[in-house]
Amino acid sequence: MLLEVKDLSLSIGILRLLDRVSFAVDRGQVLGLVGESGSGKSLTALALTGLVRRIGGVVTGGVILFDGQDLAGLPEPALRRLRGKRIAFITQNPMSALDALKTIGDQVDQVARLHLGLSRRAARARTVEILTRLRIPDAAQVARAYPHQLSGGMKQRVVIAMALAADAELIIADEPTTALDVTVQAQIVMILADLVRQRQIGLILITHDMGVVAQICDLVCVLYAGRVAESGPVETLFAAPRHPYSAALIGCIPREGMAPGALKGIPGGVPSAAAYGDACCRFAERCPRADALCRRTRPPERIEGGMTVACHHPLPLLSAAPEVAR
Ligand SMILES: Nc1ncnc2c1ncn2[C@@H]1O[C@H](COP(=O)(O)OP(=O)(O)OP(=O)(O)O)[C@@H](O)[C@H]1O
Ligand code: SF4
Ligand SMILES: [Mg+2]
Repeated sequence: MLLEVKDLSLSIGILRLLDRVSFAVDRGQVLGLVGESGSGKSLTALALTGLVRRIGGVVTGGVILFDGQDLAGLPEPALRRLRGKRIAFITQNPMSALDALKTIGDQVDQVARLHLGLSRRAARARTVEILTRLRIPDAAQVARAYPHQLSGGMKQRVVIAMALAADAELIIADEPTTALDVTVQAQIVMILADLVRQRQIGLILITHDMGVVAQICDLVCVLYAGRVAESGPVETLFAAPRHPYSAALIGCIPREGMAPGALKGIPGGVPSAAAYGDACCRFAERCPRADALCRRTRPPERIEGGMTVACHHPLPLLSAAPEVAR
């Protein structure tokens, strides 16, 4: 297994923001990490890369096994060596990863020279090859351009190129396309998915778009208020979501022929971290199936039909009916 996260708990100050989160992704697989705003997706990404320490985050339990090595307890210098080389992190805003004063080529070359020890000439040849593979036309010319000369979609491809230049084995992409228009989003997501299959790397794709999950992910992990609601193979989840929250999220995918106004969100919102209950299901306030048990006991995780689901009253094994979204 390339990455195995088991019972990961994370706190910042007195806030316990992740509560026993588990999932795994292997080489050649795309795992979608989904959930509404505030569910803990970005914090999970920051925990995996160790960057969460910079905002005062402390892993209070669990393990993050990357290729068998536990990252949770790894000292910062060792983590720094992994980041950028074996594990690449792509964020929503490509500009934050690019230096406005250096050409695209210099920035991508630099990664290969630093991590792979390539000569200037070899690094540039590799950069042009990678940019071409990312379907950037006139790659040699683009390599001589500065970030401000490129469109948002091009800049995002360059950031992906930097991840590839170091030969990363695991890419964590946090909403890598939300700033882009829909057509460009689809292109970038397909490029990422192709790379995963071709190069047998692992990809964790953070998104709130269940349509994207259905399109390119193999596995999915649905987060709600810092806990895993449901996880497992994508086809199984879409065929028969067991957790009322997953069912509601799937009900939120706009379908062909649906009037724009017909897309209904799930009423209410994710509770703020300060209001997270411990001995309860955190979805209870919004769940049509909630009862007294849900409000006083944490739902145990059960594994059935290949899915892990944390719910006292899961939907039937083969029902695809979304109950919450109407
Ligand atoms: N530095 C911080 N200090 C305190 N609380 C934080 C901090 N960062 C995030 N949180 C809280 O942790 C919870 C999860 O945040 P996170 O950013 O991981 O959500 P997300 O799923 O990435 O949401 P979005 O879709 O909006 O990006 C939220 O309740 C958020 O307010
Ligand atoms: S545990 Fe209860 S409140 Fe939570 S999702 Fe399941 S049925 Fe709904
Ligand atoms: Mg986020």
